[in-house]
Amino acid sequence: MMDPCPAGASPQFELCASILAADFACLAKDIRAAEAAGVDAFHIDIMDGHFVPSISFGVDMVRTMRRLTQKPLDVHLMVKNPLAFVPELSQLKVERVSVHYEIPGGPDKALQAICDAGMQAGLVLNPETAPTVAEPYLPLLRQILLMTVQPGRGGQPYLPGSNEKITALHTLLEQHGSGALIQVDGGITSKTLPGAYRAGARSIVAGSAVFGGAIGPGVKALRQSCPAK
Ligand code: DX5
Ligand code: ZN
Repeated sequence: MMDPCPAGASPQFELCASILAADFACLAKDIRAAEAAGVDAFHIDIMDGHFVPSISFGVDMVRTMRRLTQKPLDVHLMVKNPLAFVPELSQLKVERVSVHYEIPGGPDKALQAICDAGMQAGLVLNPETAPTVAEPYLPLLRQILLMTVQPGRGGQPYLPGSNEKITALHTLLEQHGSGALIQVDGGITSKTLPGAYRAGARSIVAGSAVFGGAIGPGVKALRQSCPAK
């Protein structure tokens, strides 16, 4: 039996800005603008060039972000061996770390190590992975991240069928009495956010919609589109 993960607040709605779409030539300025616009957390996509074809950045970017903001850091590990990242992320006092179900050998050890290190754990499911695979892990999870695009790059359109999958996961969580949040990542705009929210997503990751244009108006448009407000 796995040990339970430390519990965290369960927001009615949180907006996590994915820095993959930020302008790295003026990262500090973009982070300040996103904070001023009212984002709740920063989502950091680490890619290793193996689990996904792209390489983004590594733990040094997390270190930089820790210096730039007091907001929670939400790290999404698109890597084959997430366990290897846990000690450094823990040292950096990262709040949340999410790992993919689809990694070789499965996510069990990495999820347990994240919890043991006092961080909050998330399980990520690729678009083609069934929500039911999350069942054995529920006691450990702060969040289940449903990929609403194929993982590996920003700026892709929200995949059809995503809202039905969110609904199915929401039903499953209710059946199990689980307080895990449903997080969605990929293709979120002011057009797609309302459907995801109504289906049960409460943690919303957005990259291009936050950093792709003027940051203040981008965040405002996302927030105003949320049926809960
Ligand atoms: C995709 C990443 C996302 C990405 C989302 O693999 O996990 O976090 O930054 O970007 P947008 O919001 O542009 O689809
Ligand atoms: Zn992500």
